[in-house]
Amino acid sequence: MKKVDVVLGLQWGDEGKGKVVDVLTPNYDVIARFQGGPNAGHSLHFGGEKFVLHTVPSGIFREGSMNIIGNGVVIDPVILAEEIAQIEATGINMVERMKISKRAHLILPTHRALDAASEAAKGKTKIGSTLKGIGPAYMDKTGRNGLRVGDILLPDFMERYQALKDKHLFQLRQYDYQVDVDAYEQEWFRGVESLKRFEFVDSEMLVNGYLQSNTSVLAEGAQGSLLDVDFGTYPYVTSSNTLCAGVCTGLGVAPTRIGEVYGIFKAYCTRVGSGPFPTELFDSTGETLRQVGCEYGATTGRPRRCGWLDLVALKYAVMMNGVTALIMMKSDILNDFDTIKVAVGYQLNGKQVDYFPYEADDTIEPIYREFEGWNCDICNVRDYNDFPQQFKDYVSFIEAECGVPVKIISVGPDREETIIR
Ligand code: GDP
Ligand code: IMO
Ligand code: MG
Repeated sequence: MKKVDVVLGLQWGDEGKGKVVDVLTPNYDVIARFQGGPNAGHSLHFGGEKFVLHTVPSGIFREGSMNIIGNGVVIDPVILAEEIAQIEATGINMVERMKISKRAHLILPTHRALDAASEAAKGKTKIGSTLKGIGPAYMDKTGRNGLRVGDILLPDFMERYQALKDKHLFQLRQYDYQVDVDAYEQEWFRGVESLKRFEFVDSEMLVNGYLQSNTSVLAEGAQGSLLDVDFGTYPYVTSSNTLCAGVCTGLGVAPTRIGEVYGIFKAYCTRVGSGPFPTELFDSTGETLRQVGCEYGATTGRPRRCGWLDLVALKYAVMMNGVTALIMMKSDILNDFDTIKVAVGYQLNGKQVDYFPYEADDTIEPIYREFEGWNCDICNVRDYNDFPQQFKDYVSFIEAECGVPVKIISVGPDREETIIR
């Protein structure tokens, strides 16, 4: 019997999960998303083209792969239908290659409106949400009011939709938030209609059946560990469990069925949206990382906040995910730095701490260890032995601190720019 391998982000998202899943897919039969929704933006580069996926699993471009949208995902039919149309334009038969869990929840047009209303009401303390309706949709899921993909086929779907919409309109009036959802609603129903072409499945039965029959499954995470609703920098988080535990609830697999856990991190660190970020740089170095790394959101286009690698936070994420292999992304972005810094501890209320604290706020001061930069272009390296010594020292330090080997290194956005050790 097989186990589910997992790819997930260890920082605040955008670590490069899409690229890695695309690179690893030839080793797997099935790719499954287990949480999040169209707040995700996963970029894939190959053959001189770039694709950004929001809801569709990143295995979709590989022939022979089956892609599953699991029960833990929240779906906006408008965004999913657009994505499907773009992929189908490349000649891929999506209906053959993708199945959707009946238990995945739907994001209604009024969920989006509620997201915007909530953020507007928060003012300065806003989360910096992607405004895709993620929070309100998960609130209706846990509040036991949500609509699920399987409901689309029920004879009273329209009544259920209307009842939930009415509840939302009432809430929007409390916010005193004026919004016209009519245009989006029309598109939404067209999206719902187009999803009916796909097989709605009991994905927990399907996935466990695959494992029984030795079919290999890779679970694709969205967002990152520090955006996890329980262990991230609450309340500046997303509304799902982004950690490995989310694979169990988001696909219906037992903890004993989890195999390899690939934890992805950037060689530095970024965050988009509000909230604590101890190693954030507000100077020209931060700006250089943003420019060289093209650090602008794949979903919203917002500039990403940039800073040095935070090993305290990374070790926290490695621990909670049970990471068995690390993957370091965007190593090439550090090519031209004389000195590279890594946070190895924090100064908090006059005390030195080496753990990620509850009160991870602006009062934290990182304690840095400095490394000599490699100061050369590593984009064309394809064999680990060919990396400069300074680069290898950087990797070895991270491995020693985390107690986990760095098995894959990425030196560019393309599929080919990847070193597997
Ligand atoms: P995801 O959300 O984790 O899938 O990551 P995003 O796609 O949002 O952001 C990662 C960005 O970095 C994308 O634009 C990728 O094409 C790009 N990228 C991924 N790996 C590398 C790398 O090793 N080097 C460079 N320069 N870019 C990379
Ligand atoms: P991928 O999968 C980076 C951030 C938002 C905001 C917070 C809450 O591409 O790594 P939400 O819309 O979920 O209510 O926003 O989470 N966020 C992400 N940041 N990458 C993502 O996804 C993100 N998805 C949500 O910026 O701070
Ligand atoms: Mg992204």
